[in-house]
Amino acid sequence: MIVGLPAHPDYCAPDVHAGPDHPMRQLTRAMAFGEPWTPSDAARVAALFDGLAAEWSDRHVDPTKAAPVLDAIERGMPPLDARWIELGAGTGAGTRLLHGRVREQISVDLSEQMLAHAPTGLAPKVRADSSCLPFADDAADVVLLINMLLFPTEVDRILRPGGHVVWVNTLGDQTPIHLPPSDVAAALPGAWTGVASNAGCGLWSVLRRA
Ligand SMILES: C[S@@+](CC[C@H](N)C(=O)[O-])C[C@H]1O[C@@H](n2cnc3c(N)ncnc32)[C@H](O)[C@@H]1O
Repeated sequence: MIVGLPAHPDYCAPDVHAGPDHPMRQLTRAMAFGEPWTPSDAARVAALFDGLAAEWSDRHVDPTKAAPVLDAIERGMPPLDARWIELGAGTGAGTRLLHGRVREQISVDLSEQMLAHAPTGLAPKVRADSSCLPFADDAADVVLLINMLLFPTEVDRILRPGGHVVWVNTLGDQTPIHLPPSDVAAALPGAWTGVASNAGCGLWSVLRRA
């Protein structure tokens, strides 16, 4: 069961941006619920984000984008004295926020250019496809996904027993890569409990295997 917490007092609903027909939304749902992720999907998505990287990095972390991540940490209470692996870390929006807050973090992304624009020295950067990660089973205490595709089998494999998944969509249901927390829990193997809320213009959920 996912318990909904009241929205953060500063929450503002996102403007209309990307609805259910957005191609990224459709891809997100397809990957979460078991459609195959092909090499051509990987090449297409890597090329897309390689092309967006310079502009994306200019945005860094604005307070509205940071708010759901920080609220997830504060009210969702995932463990901080822990090893966090962030999938789809991009140009380091999450990396910057986690720095100094968690014991250890690793930033993973498919796009060489997104990683090239991420800050150096805050976390090891690993270029990898999250559908096939270069980590041992149970390698992470926490897996963080901010506006990132969900590959349930790999998240489940690298997450230690009792570990947490932190899911953030910084524009809520208007985020192109969006799933409601209940669907994230349904897509992950096994039964999950957790909390969810809204902050900034986004949503977050902190899930733990029941
Ligand atoms: C919408 S961006 C979000 C980036 C960052 N989390 C942020 O909020 O600024 C999605 C990121 O996921 C990465 N990504 C997409 N598919 C991936 C995959 N299969 N494995 C690893 N990273 C992937 C993209 O390259 C991109 O950097």
